[in-house]
Amino acid sequence: MEKTFLMLKPDAVQRRMIGKLVQRFEEKGFELIGAKLMRMTMAQAEAHYAEHTDKPFYGELLEFITSGPVFAMVWQGEGVVAMSRLMIGKTNPLEAAPGTIRGDFATDKGNNIIHGSDSPESAEREVANAFHPEELLIFDPFL
Ligand code: CMP
Repeated sequence: MEKTFLMLKPDAVQRRMIGKLVQRFEEKGFELIGAKLMRMTMAQAEAHYAEHTDKPFYGELLEFITSGPVFAMVWQGEGVVAMSRLMIGKTNPLEAAPGTIRGDFATDKGNNIIHGSDSPESAEREVANAFHPEELLIFDPFL
């Protein structure tokens, strides 16, 4: 079954938005199979954002994501990668549609509340960077 890595960024945790944001994905019908409040180490942040090394905002990105606790989650369900990206909205919150998370709660490209994997392959890499396998449930709806 398809999985994605969703991470509530330090701005979301600081703004006490964990419950409200988790609720959106629960109500949609996806299965939460792992979650924890954690502080990303610099090594984890570098691995997570490896594809952005050459971007002008790379330093800012690392500084922000390691600046405070994040709420890391693994969600499972058919089409969960693409649907959660739709629910999150465009990277630039000023272009994100109302009704999406960034469209409803953010205005800043850096402090944009939540990260969602862009493909099942990225999800696998990002989950492995943040979780030990034993921290995840093996969810079988027929058990
Ligand atoms: P995320 O989905 O975590 O993946 C890459 C992140 O880079 C993105 O969300 C934004 O938070 C960040 N980002 C993208 N463009 C900019 C920018 N112009 N300035 C600062 N941060 C950016």
